[in-house]
Amino acid sequence: MCGIIGYTGNSQALPVLIQGIRLLSYRGYDSAGVSVWRAGALHVRRDPGRIEDLAPGWDPDALAGTTGVGHTRWATHGVPNRVNAHPHSDADGAVALVHNGIVENDLALRKELEADGVKFTSDTDTEVLAHLFARAFRGDPVAAARDLLRRCRGQFALAIQHRDLPHTLLAVRRGSPLLIGLGVRENLVASDLRPLVGRADRVLDMGEDEIAVVTPTTVELFDAAGAPVVREPRPVDHTEREIGKDGHAHFMLKEMHEQPHRLYELVASRVDSDGRLVRFDDVGIDDDAWRRFSRVDLVGAGTAYHACLYGAQVIETLARIPARAVMSHEYAAAQPVLGPDVLVIAVSQSGETMDTKVALEAALEGDAATLGVLNVRQSVIGRMAGGVMDLHAGPEISVASTKAHTSMLCALALLALKAAQARGVTSTPYGDIARALWALPDAVRMALADFGAAAEAARDVRRADHMLYLGRSWDSSTALEGALKMKEISYIHAEGYAAGELKHGPIALVSREVPTVAIVTPGRMRERMLGNVREVRAREGEILIVASKDDEEARFLADFVLPVPTLDERIAPIVNVVPLQVLAYETARLRGCDIDQPRNLAKTVTVQ
Ligand code: G6P
Repeated sequence: MCGIIGYTGNSQALPVLIQGIRLLSYRGYDSAGVSVWRAGALHVRRDPGRIEDLAPGWDPDALAGTTGVGHTRWATHGVPNRVNAHPHSDADGAVALVHNGIVENDLALRKELEADGVKFTSDTDTEVLAHLFARAFRGDPVAAARDLLRRCRGQFALAIQHRDLPHTLLAVRRGSPLLIGLGVRENLVASDLRPLVGRADRVLDMGEDEIAVVTPTTVELFDAAGAPVVREPRPVDHTEREIGKDGHAHFMLKEMHEQPHRLYELVASRVDSDGRLVRFDDVGIDDDAWRRFSRVDLVGAGTAYHACLYGAQVIETLARIPARAVMSHEYAAAQPVLGPDVLVIAVSQSGETMDTKVALEAALEGDAATLGVLNVRQSVIGRMAGGVMDLHAGPEISVASTKAHTSMLCALALLALKAAQARGVTSTPYGDIARALWALPDAVRMALADFGAAAEAARDVRRADHMLYLGRSWDSSTALEGALKMKEISYIHAEGYAAGELKHGPIALVSREVPTVAIVTPGRMRERMLGNVREVRAREGEILIVASKDDEEARFLADFVLPVPTLDERIAPIVNVVPLQVLAYETARLRGCDIDQPRNLAKTVTVQ
């Protein structure tokens, strides 16, 4: 987790570092810090809090200098306070080091250093690295970095400064991504591309267990044995440039409103209006491969896992291939039976989620075919997977995922249609599915236009401490996603269930104080869902129903109706989730929560 930025050049480092931290805050934002070299010393400033609040208090004179490193933190070891914030130093202040990832053998190393007289000032694993580096440094930074790689286990990316090396940054990478940005008489180090755009015109991806020595005009790469590595830089992709809120109060709101357009582009790029032509030449799976697969495993975490649940159902139903969703962090440990006839699809907005990367590694080791369904093609998972289907949802900044989620669902439905076609499945009603996909952008637009209905319901549920979300079959994953959105940003405890489970336990929770959200759109499960709604009603539970606008029965039973247009039930979850996004958004807003950066969370989780 966390974000790293380093700068060395002719400009003042501090503004570049602050801007970099700001752009990296989606990776964590509980504290931040910088160090800058000036007049033979490293000047460090680090504080708990968010960069917008911290930066105005950081004195540009005290932190003047043209070489420095910066960091934004998501706490893994130790609470988010000043001493645990990065950069970390040794007792002499000879080293300033920022870290992304986890050192797994930090306790053993800490004990060893303490036995040798080192006094620790923080609870972090990172401080171990600072002491080890300072002790190993005898004038040669590469030798000291190699020592770190030899002694430390885990996954980490590091940017390091040493007091004796005025205009030099050292970068070390194991597991976690790290990039070198190449500019004109200035170079940068960063944990991803975003802070490099606009300063660097080319970028060098560091490989596994590599070390880089970076000055304003040179970059030297070495492997763990100290041998030089030669690698061509690639041009910077300018679509990654910083984006604004376009007049919206929050990124989440803006991103919800982008959904119709993003879905339109995704559908239009893949399928013709009658569903006969489904274009997928670019994803690296040909028709023979689709015919060969005997199973599809979909792996993801959080919101992406909910997309996997839908994906498994749509692939199995339309393409008639056994498919299952597995939480990516559970995948490798479950020792799945793999082989070339198994397709493993890694679903991820960022393409950097460590849990999902580890699942993909297991798939590759097991010789399975692999595909990434990703919003960032140039990502760790994008580079590992055999093929990539790009969501093209555009940068998603809000921690709570909305447009990436609906794009994932749509992409997986398109993929299922393609697989069905390649396998010649005659039972699949291609025309119906294609029509529903084409109707989707407008349906989502209409669901968003009914913002007021969810906003009114939010005025009521804002007072709740607990909520239940129920859906069946196609919409059981919608219920899980609705509940996740609510808890992520409003901090209301919300549980999502496949509604058949209601009688098997959760009904014990039903009361006037626990609002229940039920998804009751047309389809095979509607009657049974209405049965569940009546069960809740009979126990005086408050009911919010996601239903068709003209559904009189739902209107009669509900305290609040969240209206959605009617679509084929196999595609409907993509629109049914939209009022649940709005409900969570409005509830969080009324409760005064920090919507785009909720407490304790991070957009991209790069630790296991
Ligand atoms: C984190 C985020 C979630 C996200 C999950 C997976 O937990 O807070 O919002 O769904 O990671 O992220 P990915 O980038 O792999 O989709």
